[in-house]
Amino acid sequence: MKVLLIFGLVAVALADVTRFEGDKVLRLKPVLNEHVKVIRELANSVQLDFWTPESAEQVTVGISVDIRVPAMYLDMAFTVLQQSGMQLDVFIDDVQEAVDRQIENKGSPRAHSYTKYNTWSEIESWMNSMATSNSDMISKEVIGNTYEGRPMVVLKIGKKSGSTKPAIFMDCGFHAREWISHAFCQWFVNEAVTTYGSDSQITSLLDQMDVFVLPVFNVDGYNAFNAHLKTRSRNAGTSCLGTDPNRNFNAGWCTIGASTNPCSETYCGTAPESEIESKNLADFIRKNKSIIKAYITIHSYSQLLLFPYSYTYDLAADHDELLEVAKGASSALRSLYGTVYTSGPGAPTIYPAAGGSDDWAYDLGVKYSYTLELRDEGQYGFLLPESQIKPTCEETMLAIKYIATHVQKNL
Ligand code: ARG
Ligand code: ZN
Repeated sequence: MKVLLIFGLVAVALADVTRFEGDKVLRLKPVLNEHVKVIRELANSVQLDFWTPESAEQVTVGISVDIRVPAMYLDMAFTVLQQSGMQLDVFIDDVQEAVDRQIENKGSPRAHSYTKYNTWSEIESWMNSMATSNSDMISKEVIGNTYEGRPMVVLKIGKKSGSTKPAIFMDCGFHAREWISHAFCQWFVNEAVTTYGSDSQITSLLDQMDVFVLPVFNVDGYNAFNAHLKTRSRNAGTSCLGTDPNRNFNAGWCTIGASTNPCSETYCGTAPESEIESKNLADFIRKNKSIIKAYITIHSYSQLLLFPYSYTYDLAADHDELLEVAKGASSALRSLYGTVYTSGPGAPTIYPAAGGSDDWAYDLGVKYSYTLELRDEGQYGFLLPESQIKPTCEETMLAIKYIATHVQKNL
Protein backbone atom coordinates (compact mmCIF):
# COMPACT_ATOMS: atom_id res chain seq x y z
CA MET A 1 0.00 0.00 0.00
CA LYS A 2 1.24 3.44 -0.82
CA VAL A 3 1.11 5.76 2.12
CA LEU A 4 -0.20 9.14 1.12
CA LEU A 5 0.92 11.73 3.59
CA ILE A 6 -0.11 15.28 3.32
CA PHE A 7 2.50 17.74 4.49
CA GLY A 8 2.20 20.74 6.74
CA LEU A 9 1.73 23.36 4.07
CA VAL A 10 -1.65 22.08 3.11
CA ALA A 11 -2.70 22.02 6.74
CA VAL A 12 -3.18 25.76 6.41
CA ALA A 13 -5.74 25.31 3.66
CA LEU A 14 -7.49 22.10 4.62
CA ALA A 15 -9.17 21.26 7.87
CA ASP A 16 -9.03 17.53 7.46
CA VAL A 17 -5.50 16.29 6.81
CA THR A 18 -3.38 13.34 7.71
CA ARG A 19 -1.64 13.92 11.01
CA PHE A 20 1.41 12.16 12.36
CA GLU A 21 1.02 12.58 16.12
CA GLY A 22 3.24 10.10 17.89
CA ASP A 23 4.68 8.64 14.68
CA LYS A 24 8.43 8.10 14.88
CA VAL A 25 11.20 7.86 12.32
CA LEU A 26 13.52 5.00 13.19
CA ARG A 27 16.98 4.36 11.83
CA LEU A 28 17.78 0.68 11.49
CA LYS A 29 21.15 -0.87 10.72
CA PRO A 30 20.61 -4.34 9.23
CA VAL A 31 23.90 -6.25 9.31
CA LEU A 32 22.54 -9.78 8.78
CA ASN A 33 20.26 -11.29 6.16
CA GLU A 34 17.93 -12.09 9.04
CA HIS A 35 17.64 -8.35 9.80
CA VAL A 36 16.73 -7.59 6.19
CA LYS A 37 14.08 -10.28 6.35
CA VAL A 38 12.63 -8.86 9.56
CA ILE A 39 12.34 -5.39 7.99
CA ARG A 40 10.68 -6.75 4.84
CA GLU A 41 8.25 -8.85 6.87
CA LEU A 42 7.35 -5.91 9.04
CA ALA A 43 6.76 -3.82 5.91
CA ASN A 44 4.41 -6.51 4.63
CA SER A 45 2.34 -6.66 7.77
CA VAL A 46 2.01 -2.98 8.67
CA GLN A 47 2.12 0.31 6.78
CA LEU A 48 5.66 1.61 6.96
CA ASP A 49 6.77 4.74 5.14
CA PHE A 50 10.30 4.26 3.80
CA TRP A 51 12.41 7.42 3.78
CA THR A 52 15.71 5.90 2.85
CA PRO A 53 16.02 3.69 0.92
CA GLU A 54 12.75 4.41 -0.82
CA SER A 55 11.20 0.97 -0.55
CA ALA A 56 11.46 -2.32 1.31
CA GLU A 57 12.81 -4.01 -1.85
CA GLN A 58 15.90 -1.81 -1.67
CA VAL A 59 16.84 -2.77 1.89
CA THR A 60 20.09 -4.73 1.98
CA VAL A 61 22.69 -5.72 4.55
CA GLY A 62 24.96 -2.83 5.51
CA ILE A 63 22.85 0.17 4.56
CA SER A 64 21.07 2.41 6.96
CA VAL A 65 17.30 2.40 6.81
CA ASP A 66 15.07 5.29 7.89
CA ILE A 67 11.38 4.48 8.23
CA ARG A 68 8.39 6.36 9.58
CA VAL A 69 6.37 4.07 11.78
CA PRO A 70 2.78 5.19 12.51
CA ALA A 71 2.09 5.52 16.25
CA MET A 72 -0.34 2.59 16.30
CA TYR A 73 2.31 0.14 15.12
CA LEU A 74 5.17 1.34 17.30
CA ASP A 75 4.82 -1.19 20.11
CA MET A 76 4.70 -4.05 17.70
CA ALA A 77 7.55 -2.69 15.57
CA PHE A 78 9.80 -2.14 18.60
CA THR A 79 9.13 -5.67 19.83
CA VAL A 80 9.91 -7.30 16.50
CA LEU A 81 12.95 -5.16 15.76
CA GLN A 82 14.47 -5.41 19.24
CA GLN A 83 14.00 -9.18 19.25
CA SER A 84 16.06 -9.41 16.08
CA GLY A 85 18.98 -7.70 17.84
CA MET A 86 19.30 -5.13 15.09
CA GLN A 87 20.66 -1.67 15.94
CA LEU A 88 17.75 0.75 16.24
CA ASP A 89 17.79 4.49 16.92
CA VAL A 90 14.86 6.85 17.19
CA PHE A 91 15.67 9.69 14.78
CA ILE A 92 12.46 11.72 14.92
CA ASP A 93 10.53 11.31 18.13
CA ASP A 94 7.26 12.89 16.98
CA VAL A 95 6.81 13.35 13.25
CA GLN A 96 3.88 15.77 13.66
CA GLU A 97 6.07 18.08 15.74
CA ALA A 98 8.68 18.06 12.95
CA VAL A 99 5.99 18.73 10.32
CA ASP A 100 4.73 21.66 12.42
CA ARG A 101 8.24 23.06 12.65
CA GLN A 102 9.11 22.63 8.97
CA ILE A 103 7.05 25.66 7.94
CA GLU A 104 7.55 28.74 10.04
CA ASN A 105 5.03 31.56 10.65
CA LYS A 106 2.16 29.58 9.20
CA GLY A 107 -0.42 32.16 10.20
CA SER A 108 1.03 35.17 8.39
CA PRO A 109 0.45 35.76 4.67
CA ARG A 110 3.01 34.08 2.47
CA ALA A 111 4.48 35.33 -0.79
CA HIS A 112 7.40 33.93 -2.78
CA SER A 113 10.58 33.89 -0.73
CA TYR A 114 13.99 32.25 -1.16
CA THR A 115 13.97 31.16 2.47
CA LYS A 116 10.56 29.45 2.37
CA TYR A 117 9.08 26.39 0.75
CA ASN A 118 7.04 27.98 -2.01
CA THR A 119 3.94 26.48 -3.58
CA TRP A 120 3.91 25.50 -7.26
CA SER A 121 1.83 28.54 -8.14
CA GLU A 122 4.29 30.82 -6.30
CA ILE A 123 7.17 29.21 -8.18
CA GLU A 124 5.32 29.48 -11.47
CA SER A 125 4.76 33.23 -11.14
CA TRP A 126 8.28 33.68 -9.78
CA MET A 127 9.70 32.05 -12.95
CA ASN A 128 7.69 34.41 -15.13
CA SER A 129 8.78 37.48 -13.25
CA MET A 130 12.45 36.39 -13.13
CA ALA A 131 12.42 35.91 -16.89
CA THR A 132 10.77 39.28 -17.59
CA SER A 133 12.82 41.31 -15.15
CA ASN A 134 16.15 39.76 -16.24
CA SER A 135 15.54 39.52 -19.97
CA ASP A 136 19.22 40.15 -20.69
CA MET A 137 20.22 37.05 -18.69
CA ILE A 138 17.27 34.66 -18.53
CA SER A 139 15.08 33.10 -21.17
CA LYS A 140 12.23 30.76 -20.46
CA GLU A 141 11.29 27.63 -22.35
CA VAL A 142 8.51 25.11 -21.72
CA ILE A 143 9.99 21.70 -22.53
CA GLY A 144 6.64 19.93 -22.37
CA ASN A 145 3.69 19.37 -20.07
CA THR A 146 3.28 16.98 -17.17
CA TYR A 147 0.74 14.16 -16.95
CA GLU A 148 -1.77 16.53 -15.38
CA GLY A 149 -0.98 19.21 -17.96
CA ARG A 150 1.27 21.59 -16.04
CA PRO A 151 4.25 23.17 -17.84
CA MET A 152 7.81 21.96 -17.26
CA VAL A 153 9.68 25.23 -17.35
CA VAL A 154 13.41 25.55 -18.06
CA LEU A 155 15.18 28.85 -17.39
CA LYS A 156 18.27 29.39 -19.50
CA ILE A 157 20.67 31.63 -17.62
CA GLY A 158 23.69 33.24 -19.23
CA LYS A 159 24.97 36.33 -20.91
CA LYS A 160 23.12 36.51 -24.23
CA SER A 161 25.44 35.88 -27.13
CA GLY A 162 25.12 35.61 -30.87
CA SER A 163 26.42 32.06 -31.02
CA THR A 164 25.39 28.87 -29.19
CA LYS A 165 27.24 28.42 -25.93
CA PRO A 166 28.19 25.23 -24.14
CA ALA A 167 25.85 24.55 -21.25
CA ILE A 168 25.23 22.92 -17.90
CA PHE A 169 21.83 21.36 -17.20
CA MET A 170 20.49 21.27 -13.64
CA ASP A 171 17.15 20.02 -12.36
CA CYS A 172 15.37 20.04 -9.02
CA GLY A 173 12.25 18.38 -7.73
CA PHE A 174 12.40 14.92 -9.29
CA HIS A 175 10.96 13.63 -6.04
CA ALA A 176 7.95 15.52 -4.69
CA ARG A 177 8.76 15.31 -0.99
CA GLU A 178 12.34 16.62 -1.23
CA TRP A 179 11.41 20.27 -0.79
CA ILE A 180 14.92 21.59 -0.14
CA SER A 181 15.73 20.56 -3.72
CA HIS A 182 13.06 22.85 -5.20
CA ALA A 183 14.28 25.63 -2.89
CA PHE A 184 17.85 25.25 -4.15
CA CYS A 185 17.07 25.77 -7.85
CA GLN A 186 15.26 29.01 -7.02
CA TRP A 187 18.18 30.13 -4.89
CA PHE A 188 20.63 29.29 -7.66
CA VAL A 189 18.77 31.31 -10.30
CA ASN A 190 18.63 34.33 -8.02
CA GLU A 191 22.30 34.05 -6.99
CA ALA A 192 23.36 33.72 -10.62
CA VAL A 193 21.60 36.86 -11.78
CA THR A 194 22.36 38.96 -8.71
CA THR A 195 26.07 38.10 -8.47
CA TYR A 196 26.76 38.26 -12.20
CA GLY A 197 29.17 41.15 -12.60
CA SER A 198 30.46 41.01 -9.01
CA ASP A 199 31.31 37.33 -8.39
CA SER A 200 34.19 36.43 -10.71
CA GLN A 201 33.37 32.71 -10.93
CA ILE A 202 29.71 33.33 -11.81
CA THR A 203 30.55 36.12 -14.21
CA SER A 204 33.10 34.09 -16.13
CA LEU A 205 30.81 31.04 -16.12
CA LEU A 206 27.80 32.91 -17.48
CA ASP A 207 29.89 34.76 -20.05
CA GLN A 208 31.19 31.54 -21.50
CA MET A 209 28.38 29.07 -20.76
CA ASP A 210 24.64 28.87 -20.22
CA VAL A 211 23.01 27.10 -17.33
CA PHE A 212 19.66 25.43 -18.00
CA VAL A 213 17.69 25.19 -14.77
CA LEU A 214 14.52 23.12 -14.44
CA PRO A 215 13.31 24.26 -10.99
CA VAL A 216 10.50 21.72 -10.70
CA PHE A 217 10.64 18.45 -12.63
CA ASN A 218 7.77 16.58 -10.97
CA VAL A 219 5.30 19.44 -10.94
CA ASP A 220 2.22 17.25 -10.33
CA GLY A 221 3.78 15.51 -7.35
CA TYR A 222 4.91 18.77 -5.77
CA ASN A 223 1.58 20.42 -6.45
CA ALA A 224 -0.21 17.59 -4.66
CA PHE A 225 1.82 18.39 -1.52
CA ASN A 226 2.12 14.89 -0.39
CA ALA A 227 5.05 13.14 1.07
CA HIS A 228 5.38 10.48 -1.55
CA LEU A 229 7.84 10.98 -4.30
CA LYS A 230 6.28 9.68 -7.49
CA THR A 231 4.58 11.27 -10.48
CA ARG A 232 0.77 11.28 -10.58
CA SER A 233 -0.01 9.13 -13.63
CA ARG A 234 -2.65 6.38 -13.51
CA ASN A 235 -1.47 2.78 -13.46
CA ALA A 236 -3.51 -0.02 -15.03
CA GLY A 237 -5.34 -2.32 -12.65
CA THR A 238 -4.69 -0.43 -9.42
CA SER A 239 -5.56 2.79 -7.65
CA CYS A 240 -1.89 3.34 -6.76
CA LEU A 241 -0.69 6.39 -8.65
CA GLY A 242 2.57 7.20 -10.33
CA THR A 243 6.07 6.06 -11.16
CA ASP A 244 9.40 6.90 -9.55
CA PRO A 245 10.86 9.17 -12.26
CA ASN A 246 14.38 8.33 -11.12
CA ARG A 247 13.77 4.68 -11.98
CA ASN A 248 12.22 5.51 -15.35
CA PHE A 249 15.24 6.35 -17.52
CA ASN A 250 16.93 4.08 -20.01
CA ALA A 251 19.93 3.04 -17.93
CA GLY A 252 19.80 -0.62 -16.93
CA TRP A 253 16.09 0.08 -16.60
CA CYS A 254 14.38 -1.87 -13.81
CA THR A 255 17.20 -4.37 -13.41
CA ILE A 256 18.09 -3.50 -9.82
CA GLY A 257 16.84 -1.34 -6.94
CA ALA A 258 13.53 -0.68 -8.65
CA SER A 259 10.14 -2.32 -8.51
CA THR A 260 7.67 -3.63 -11.08
CA ASN A 261 4.86 -3.15 -8.56
CA PRO A 262 2.91 0.06 -9.31
CA CYS A 263 2.17 0.44 -5.60
CA SER A 264 5.86 0.60 -4.70
CA GLU A 265 7.53 3.99 -4.23
CA THR A 266 10.28 2.78 -6.55
CA TYR A 267 7.99 1.61 -9.37
CA CYS A 268 9.99 1.85 -12.61
CA GLY A 269 6.99 2.38 -14.94
CA THR A 270 5.93 0.28 -17.92
CA ALA A 271 9.01 1.13 -20.03
CA PRO A 272 11.92 3.59 -20.01
CA GLU A 273 10.47 7.10 -20.38
CA SER A 274 6.91 5.81 -19.94
CA GLU A 275 6.40 8.93 -17.81
CA ILE A 276 5.84 12.03 -19.90
CA GLU A 277 8.02 14.04 -17.50
CA SER A 278 11.02 11.72 -18.06
CA LYS A 279 10.44 11.77 -21.79
CA ASN A 280 10.25 15.57 -21.92
CA LEU A 281 13.53 15.89 -20.02
CA ALA A 282 15.28 13.18 -22.04
CA ASP A 283 14.08 14.73 -25.31
CA PHE A 284 15.40 18.13 -24.27
CA ILE A 285 18.81 16.75 -23.32
CA ARG A 286 19.03 14.61 -26.47
CA LYS A 287 18.15 17.64 -28.58
CA ASN A 288 20.87 19.72 -26.89
CA LYS A 289 23.33 16.89 -26.51
CA SER A 290 26.12 18.60 -28.41
CA ILE A 291 26.18 21.60 -26.06
CA ILE A 292 25.34 20.03 -22.68
CA LYS A 293 28.61 19.33 -20.86
CA ALA A 294 27.27 18.61 -17.38
CA TYR A 295 24.08 17.21 -15.87
CA ILE A 296 23.31 17.95 -12.22
CA THR A 297 20.24 16.65 -10.42
CA ILE A 298 19.33 17.82 -6.93
CA HIS A 299 17.72 15.49 -4.37
CA SER A 300 17.60 15.17 -0.61
CA TYR A 301 18.53 13.91 1.97
CA SER A 302 21.79 12.22 3.11
CA GLN A 303 24.56 14.74 2.22
CA LEU A 304 26.04 12.87 -0.70
CA LEU A 305 27.66 13.81 -3.97
CA LEU A 306 27.03 10.88 -6.28
CA PHE A 307 28.08 10.09 -9.82
CA PRO A 308 27.64 7.05 -12.13
CA TYR A 309 27.03 4.29 -11.84
CA SER A 310 24.01 3.32 -9.80
CA TYR A 311 22.77 0.53 -12.08
CA THR A 312 26.02 -1.39 -11.80
CA TYR A 313 29.01 -1.64 -9.48
CA ASP A 314 31.32 -1.28 -12.49
CA LEU A 315 33.33 1.92 -12.37
CA ALA A 316 32.57 4.63 -14.91
CA ALA A 317 35.26 5.26 -17.54
CA ASP A 318 35.77 8.72 -16.05
CA HIS A 319 35.65 7.51 -12.44
CA ASP A 320 38.91 9.08 -11.27
CA GLU A 321 38.12 12.53 -12.59
CA LEU A 322 34.50 12.40 -11.42
CA LEU A 323 35.65 11.44 -7.92
CA GLU A 324 38.34 14.12 -7.85
CA VAL A 325 35.83 16.81 -8.79
CA ALA A 326 33.26 15.46 -6.31
CA LYS A 327 35.80 15.61 -3.51
CA GLY A 328 36.79 19.15 -4.42
CA ALA A 329 33.15 20.20 -4.52
CA SER A 330 32.46 18.54 -1.16
CA SER A 331 35.31 20.31 0.53
CA ALA A 332 34.24 23.65 -0.95
CA LEU A 333 30.78 22.97 0.47
CA ARG A 334 32.17 22.00 3.86
CA SER A 335 34.29 25.14 4.13
CA LEU A 336 31.24 27.32 4.89
CA TYR A 337 29.41 25.63 7.78
CA GLY A 338 31.32 22.38 8.24
CA THR A 339 28.62 20.25 6.59
CA VAL A 340 30.18 16.91 5.68
CA TYR A 341 29.38 15.24 2.37
CA THR A 342 30.40 11.80 1.15
CA SER A 343 31.40 11.42 -2.52
CA GLY A 344 31.29 8.30 -4.66
CA PRO A 345 29.53 6.27 -7.33
CA GLY A 346 25.82 5.73 -6.58
CA ALA A 347 25.71 1.94 -6.24
CA PRO A 348 28.27 1.49 -3.46
CA THR A 349 27.73 4.89 -1.84
CA ILE A 350 23.94 4.94 -1.39
CA TYR A 351 22.45 1.80 -2.97
CA PRO A 352 22.18 0.21 -6.39
CA ALA A 353 19.19 1.63 -8.28
CA ALA A 354 18.73 1.44 -12.04
CA GLY A 355 16.88 3.83 -14.32
CA GLY A 356 18.28 7.08 -12.90
CA SER A 357 18.65 10.22 -14.96
CA ASP A 358 22.31 10.64 -13.89
CA ASP A 359 23.39 7.26 -15.31
CA TRP A 360 21.29 7.83 -18.42
CA ALA A 361 22.84 11.26 -19.09
CA TYR A 362 26.33 9.88 -18.53
CA ASP A 363 25.82 7.00 -20.97
CA LEU A 364 24.44 9.48 -23.49
CA GLY A 365 27.81 11.23 -23.35
CA VAL A 366 27.38 13.92 -20.70
CA LYS A 367 30.58 13.27 -18.82
CA TYR A 368 30.05 15.42 -15.72
CA SER A 369 26.92 13.82 -14.34
CA TYR A 370 26.18 14.35 -10.63
CA THR A 371 23.41 13.73 -8.14
CA LEU A 372 23.45 15.80 -4.96
CA GLU A 373 21.60 14.61 -1.90
CA LEU A 374 21.31 17.78 0.19
CA ARG A 375 20.87 18.19 3.98
CA ASP A 376 20.37 16.65 6.37
CA GLU A 377 21.49 13.23 7.58
CA GLY A 378 18.05 12.24 8.84
CA GLN A 379 17.60 14.43 11.91
CA TYR A 380 14.68 16.04 10.06
CA GLY A 381 14.99 14.09 6.82
CA PHE A 382 12.47 15.45 4.32
CA LEU A 383 11.02 17.73 7.00
CA LEU A 384 14.00 20.10 6.96
CA PRO A 385 12.92 23.34 8.72
CA GLU A 386 12.76 26.50 6.64
CA SER A 387 15.47 28.03 8.84
CA GLN A 388 17.91 25.63 7.15
CA ILE A 389 17.09 26.69 3.59
CA LYS A 390 19.53 29.61 3.58
CA PRO A 391 22.62 27.82 4.95
CA THR A 392 21.89 24.74 2.86
CA CYS A 393 21.60 26.76 -0.34
CA GLU A 394 24.66 28.88 0.44
CA GLU A 395 26.90 25.87 0.97
CA THR A 396 25.43 23.99 -2.01
CA MET A 397 26.22 27.00 -4.24
CA LEU A 398 29.90 26.45 -3.45
CA ALA A 399 29.75 22.84 -4.62
CA ILE A 400 27.90 23.75 -7.82
CA LYS A 401 30.31 26.56 -8.57
CA TYR A 402 33.24 24.21 -8.03
CA ILE A 403 31.84 21.65 -10.46
CA ALA A 404 30.89 24.35 -12.99
CA THR A 405 34.35 25.89 -12.91
CA HIS A 406 35.93 22.50 -13.54
CA VAL A 407 33.58 21.90 -16.46
CA GLN A 408 34.36 25.31 -17.85
CA LYS A 409 38.13 24.72 -17.60
CA ASN A 410 37.73 21.45 -19.48
CA LEU A 411 35.55 22.60 -22.36
N1 ARG B 1 18.01 8.90 -3.68
C1 ARG B 1 18.20 8.89 -5.11
C2 ARG B 1 17.18 7.94 -5.73
O1 ARG B 1 16.92 6.90 -5.16
C3 ARG B 1 19.59 8.49 -5.46
C4 ARG B 1 19.88 8.60 -6.89
C5 ARG B 1 21.24 8.07 -7.26
N2 ARG B 1 21.28 7.79 -8.66
C6 ARG B 1 20.65 6.73 -9.24
N3 ARG B 1 20.74 6.62 -10.52
N4 ARG B 1 20.04 5.82 -8.53
O2 ARG B 1 16.63 8.21 -6.75
ZN1 ZN C 1 15.18 11.91 -4.52
